[in-house]
Amino acid sequence: MPDFDYQLVVIGSGPGGYVAAIRAAQLGLKTAIVEKDKTLGGTCLNVGCIPSKALLASSEHLHFARERFAAHGIIAKDITLDLGAMMKRKGEVVGKLTSGVTYLMKKHKIEVVKGLGKLVDGHTVEVTDEDGAKKTLKAQNILLATGSVPVELPFLKFDGKRIINSDQGIALDKVPKSMLVIGAGAIGLELGSVWQRLGTEVTVIEFLPRIAAVGFDPETSKILQRNLEKLGMKFELSTKIESAKVTDKCVELQGKNEKGAVSYKADLVLVAVGRKPFTAGLELEKAGVKLTDKGRIALSGHWQTNVPSVYAIGDIVDGPMLAHKAHEEGVAVAERLVGKPGHVNYDIIPGVIYTAPEAASVGITEEQAKEQKLDVRVGKFAFTANGRAIASDTTEGFAKIIADAKTDRVLGAHIVASNASELIAETVLLMEFGGSSEDLARTIHAHPTMSEAVKEAALAVDGRMLSA
Ligand code: NAI
Repeated sequence: MPDFDYQLVVIGSGPGGYVAAIRAAQLGLKTAIVEKDKTLGGTCLNVGCIPSKALLASSEHLHFARERFAAHGIIAKDITLDLGAMMKRKGEVVGKLTSGVTYLMKKHKIEVVKGLGKLVDGHTVEVTDEDGAKKTLKAQNILLATGSVPVELPFLKFDGKRIINSDQGIALDKVPKSMLVIGAGAIGLELGSVWQRLGTEVTVIEFLPRIAAVGFDPETSKILQRNLEKLGMKFELSTKIESAKVTDKCVELQGKNEKGAVSYKADLVLVAVGRKPFTAGLELEKAGVKLTDKGRIALSGHWQTNVPSVYAIGDIVDGPMLAHKAHEEGVAVAERLVGKPGHVNYDIIPGVIYTAPEAASVGITEEQAKEQKLDVRVGKFAFTANGRAIASDTTEGFAKIIADAKTDRVLGAHIVASNASELIAETVLLMEFGGSSEDLARTIHAHPTMSEAVKEAALAVDGRMLSA
């Protein structure tokens, strides 16, 4: 490696970048990682997946204590919210995990270079730190893993007060009286749930006719909406917001639905209409790295850009913007760099929305099976008939297995349950092994567990449920 300081320089330390760096170091590559933010871990650890899950857990405890404790024979009077303490705990959770990444970098002897990285050419990264000092890294290979940022609506520029994005939506210092959420995807539903549970009147406005429309089964959308409405959230579907008026006291949104003009007023609005790739400052054009029509980095195969020594993964390339997808891509790139057959199965990526109940999905939906004219058999089981769910007071939801009618191979699984994020894992594994609904139906599941409902759904594919 005569001309290079490193065999791999990774730009971006989110779940794609830091995992790629660890795998590369494990495989013996001299590796550095460049990060512009104070702490490592990217969006997921600092302002995304992790802090939102901390707030979801805390707010769910509060809601359960208020609504369900009495039914369990627990008398707790005057349950009140200490938002400061809740946010402090969230900060501690984030701190623990981001310092964990720093520890992992040290452990694997990965050099952490703090500052904004830009490409000078296909083998050179220039890093500018917050004091303006520059450092040049010569790299045999460069991996871009710079993630994404929230999409802004042209008439609703984020101001951090009345018009907020998810970064700000996890850090409010008081509970707003009312909140409008634009977008009923993962972020809108998760953060909407948090604030509704903490006392805000939340109204979610969605352009499409159903919530959680992307990647989730229509039945999942229905059950989720029913449960979120029970919580007090309101939904305005098939509604397009077109303009806004912001005053010192509130935000007013105007738009239309099929009935005509509509308008909504609230203390603030959380815009959760998707995320876009973050490539600002990378100066991709200087190194000649090409983008797709949609502004993601174009790949010519195996995460390689049109510049052969430059690779890209995660939210800046095609595919779902999910931490675990970026993570697997990072591992695959590192393995390919040493001649191993790194691979990602894009057909089997689970997706989860962490509401209560949670919604989890993998593979095709019933709707997609119809569109693709696939001959499938579907088995479904409701948690109302699952012993563990009844004992635990978590009977909302169902498990659904979609299998090929001829071969019985499982093509999709959809679970709505309090722990759907965990329950989906066995179906992901089953699909990864090309398993059938019969395989799942004949697998012994501990009793009593919520996972028995997944087995029952597999039995239901063949019409032989045992518990309903
Ligand atoms: P999203 O793309 O999941 O959902 C955005 C929603 O906003 C869509 O339903 C869309 O129809 C709607 N929308 C778009 N423009 C609109 C408009 N002008 N008026 C009304 N509705 C409009 O985006 P989200 O929730 O912001 O999440 C961003 C990314 O982050 C997604 O890829 C998501 O999967 C990922 N993410 C994943 C999480 C998880 O795995 N639990 C948690 C948070 C985010």
